This record gives sequence, C-alpha cells and structure tokens, in this order.
Amino acid sequence: MKFRIFLVVASCVVSLITGFVISRSGSSTEAVGARAKPLIGLSMDTLKEERWQGDRDLFVTRARELGADVLVQSANSDDTRQISDVQALISRRVDVLVIVPHNGAAMAKAVNMAHDAGIPVLAYDRLITDCDLDLYMTFDNEKVGELQAQFLVNHLLKERTKKIVRIYGAKTDNNALLYKRGQDKVLTPLIKKGEIEVVHEDWTQDWRPENAKKIASAAITKAGANFDAILASNDGTAGGAIQALSEEGLAGKILVTGQDAELSACQRIVNGTQAMTIYKPLSQLAKQAAEAATKMAKRKPVFTLGKIDNKKVEVPSILLGVVVVTKENMMDTVVKDGFHKAADVYRSLPDAQGSR
Ligand code: GAL
Repeated sequence: MKFRIFLVVASCVVSLITGFVISRSGSSTEAVGARAKPLIGLSMDTLKEERWQGDRDLFVTRARELGADVLVQSANSDDTRQISDVQALISRRVDVLVIVPHNGAAMAKAVNMAHDAGIPVLAYDRLITDCDLDLYMTFDNEKVGELQAQFLVNHLLKERTKKIVRIYGAKTDNNALLYKRGQDKVLTPLIKKGEIEVVHEDWTQDWRPENAKKIASAAITKAGANFDAILASNDGTAGGAIQALSEEGLAGKILVTGQDAELSACQRIVNGTQAMTIYKPLSQLAKQAAEAATKMAKRKPVFTLGKIDNKKVEVPSILLGVVVVTKENMMDTVVKDGFHKAADVYRSLPDAQGSR
C-alpha cells in the first residue's frame, strides 16, 4: 500500500504546475451521438518490445470497462505504414485517436489529418511534435535519464576516471532525446572535470537490440575491455549490449543500466549481468489514458495539471513517476506491484530460495 501511495503522490507532485481543460468539437460529434459506444483508434509504433503488448492490453481492457470499443493498429516501426493506419482509423470514423508515434515529427501529419476530420488526438508515451496536439500522457522521461546516470555514477569506483559507453535510443523517438538530456544533466559536469570519459556512443535505430549489440561490439573493438560501464537507455538495448559483453567473457564485469523492467532484464539483474532498470507502472499510464480517451471521445473535458512545448503549442500533459529497480528492491517494486511474479524473475537462479 505504501509503495502505491508513493507512486500516486509522485505522479501528482510531478504534474502539480498549472491547470488546463481541453475539449475539441468537430464533425464527428454527430458520429458519437449515432454510435452506441465511443470508438477509440489506437495506432502503435510496434508491438515488438514486451512493454507495448502490456500497454495495449491494459489500455483496451480499461476502455472496454468504460463502455468504449478500441481498434488497434501496429505499424511495425514504419512511418508510411503508421500514416496509412491512421487514415484507416479516420475512415472508420473513430471518435478519438491515441497514437504511439514511431517518429514524433512524421506523425504531425497524422494529427492534422485527424483534426481535419474533427477527431482529437492523444499522444501516448511519446510526444508528437510540430502540431496542435490535444493531449500528451507519459512518464517523467528526463527523470528516467537522470536516475540511470546517477545510478551509474554512484556505483562506479571513485579512484580514477571512469570510462563509459553510451547507447542512446532511436533518434526518431522524442523520448530518446529526453533520456539523453536527463543523463547529460548528471554526466556533463563530471565529463568536464575529467571524472568520466565517454569512450564510445551511438544511437540505436528503431531501439532494436541487435543494433545495440553492434554498438557495444564497436566499443569493445575500439576500447577492448578497458571501460567500466554501458549506459544503455532501455532493457532492449541493454540486452543487446550484454550479449556482446558475454561473447567476450565480460558480462557481469561491466555495469549496465536499463529501463522498462522487462522480465528478461529483471532476471539479468538478479543474475548479476545487468545492474538496474527503471520501472514505469504501465497500468497507471494505460488506465489513465483509456479514461482520458473515453472522455475525449464523448467530448467531455479532460483536466491536466501540466503542459509541454512540442515546438508548435503548449500541449496539456500528464507525467507519471518512475522507480529505480535493483537486485535489492526487486521484491518491493515490480513483484509487489504485480508487474512480474517472483517465480518468473528468480526462475533462472540455481537456488531461487537463497536470493529472496
Ligand atoms: C520509448 C519508451 C521506452 C522504450 C522505448 C522502446 O519511447 O518510453 O519505454 O521501451 O521506447 O520501445
């Protein structure tokens, strides 16, 4: 219960800035009236990563509880495909669109298409830039980067310059820029003081683990085993990097960060090959987004306490809190919250009993 209260308070504190009410009227209002149930269109970048399957299921379940129907499309990380997915949802006369953009800038076109049809748009987890977006709901992404970098700094020996590799996310994803910005807040002063040296860094196309593995291999080719940590932006890229490390017998010897609390990452953390991850309570984001989308579909106002500049407008926004997960607090975070079962997390340990 204490942990749940912390998450709720954390999310409120983060967004206790100013108040906004939004609603958008348009031609599809008639459609709402005509249809028994509100119809939500959910356009996703991909269902490749474990988390997106969770987001989809939690969102659809909550929307149905609220009496809405949901049409789901996944674009497999293809911008052209995602635009045509949105066109298809518009032609189905959905009452509201919820979009997880593959490319935050490219999807401005989709928002404009939706508005031409009188349909409001909620950007889910990732910001859509350069357009008159209606609502943005996500986690505190800069905080994610700060916590990853601070963990790394706190857990590396202090006696000499620490050499690190940085694996960023996909350049098309505004979140990847926010994680880096949060990390830079912590690292830049230390890099200037010569306490930290970045021996290799790169962006991971489409967040693909196999692309992150190539970046880690390039770092090993360049620096051999002569570095202390890999600042990986999420668990997918961490997994790819750890594969490269294990091929060189370095897994568990080099500190690796992560994000998303994927099951495989939690297993790596209790096994000792990954040092930490960031838990983002998907159920909170998905449920709150389904509630907001259902209200928007009924042209009811959604109240937010924050706003974010997307280079065109100040978008009414909701940011939720995040939590660092390590071997020490695994049981008190992702297991206690029912995100993973203890048996699954500790499955690969020789003597599961000893570790808990
Ligand atoms: C980010 C998301 C992360 C991560 C990544 C790859 O936008 O916030 O949780 O999973 O995409 O899909």
